[in-house]
Amino acid sequence: MNLTAPRFARITGTGSHLPARRVTNDDLARQLAERGVETSDAWIVERTGIRARHFAADTDTCSDLAVRAARQALDAAGVSAADIDLIIVATSTPDMVFPSTACIVQQKLGIHGCAAFDMQAVCSGFVYGLSVADSMIRSGAASKALVIGSEIFSRLLDFNDRTTCVLFGDGAGAVVVEASNTPGILASDLHADGRHVEILCTPGTVSGGQISGSPLLQMDGPAVFKLAVGVLEEAARSTLKKAGRTDADIDWLIPHQANIRIMQSTARKLKLPLDKLIATVDEHGNTSAASIPLALDVAVRSGKIQRGDTLMLEGVGGGFTWGAVLLDF
Ligand code: UT7
Repeated sequence: MNLTAPRFARITGTGSHLPARRVTNDDLARQLAERGVETSDAWIVERTGIRARHFAADTDTCSDLAVRAARQALDAAGVSAADIDLIIVATSTPDMVFPSTACIVQQKLGIHGCAAFDMQAVCSGFVYGLSVADSMIRSGAASKALVIGSEIFSRLLDFNDRTTCVLFGDGAGAVVVEASNTPGILASDLHADGRHVEILCTPGTVSGGQISGSPLLQMDGPAVFKLAVGVLEEAARSTLKKAGRTDADIDWLIPHQANIRIMQSTARKLKLPLDKLIATVDEHGNTSAASIPLALDVAVRSGKIQRGDTLMLEGVGGGFTWGAVLLDF
């Protein structure tokens, strides 16, 4: 790399991990029926596009999933773990209250000393993390970063609440981001609006050796739906404007994989044909901060996304948080 030329941040490798246990809508509907909770494959597919999700084994931790995805991304980039100088793990389901899952990932990768921290922006965590890594690389604070989204949301689900428990799944996705003289990440745009904290939250916390408040996920789905549809278009447009690009420059739209209806509506608003939309929500469900890097890796490994393609990544979720990153892959 030429140190006097402009410095950008580029994704040089992607990886992902899905737990082996695949649970179809019919499997889930049967399990819920035993509790007297009624749902169906037809309802879930029609309202969300989800057909199956993966659930982690009881022995798995968030850092285990993260490390498996990270190792794949390192292999794809041809980078040794020893060369990584920044680890960001986007998660809302960390191994512990503290230390961060990023520190545990660092230890499991057998490396020491580099900066490592968690990014808590719920389903927007990966785009937040990617944007921070981009800034740190461009400023010279880091040169080779691992940005990971890893979640075990199944542990937060209330299986008596059919309005939420059918939506989420577990998994991890990771990217290696390196300093480069060619872009790379072109622009990003991050937002939050704390007035909407209560529409999507897991309000419990640890206090005096007890869990205080509910440790289960709560969501006002229709309220989240309405906000998401509006902000995703806005974030994409402001990111394109910052980069001096237009909708026509987007080769692939990779939105947070929460609901196919939200994703398709965003694509339509950006005047993108639906075949430019990367959708894995049918097989993964909503894996929160892991959903975007998981979808990215699946599309890269299937050969759909090619080097040089322009990608629009968009996150939205609890906080309320949202944001976008535009990049040349
Ligand atoms: O990751 C963060 C971002 N999260 C999101 O983007 C989620 C955004 N929200 C959504 O995706 C949708 O709002 C949901 C998928 C959560 C719900 O879809 P909806 O079209 O907004 O349905 P609704 O909540 O208005 O419910 C419609 C009906 C209700 O019955 P009534 O009141 O019409 O009799 C629900 O009780 O569907 C019922 N229902 C179900 N029926 C069968 C709700 N959940 C289920 C279910 N199975 N699992």
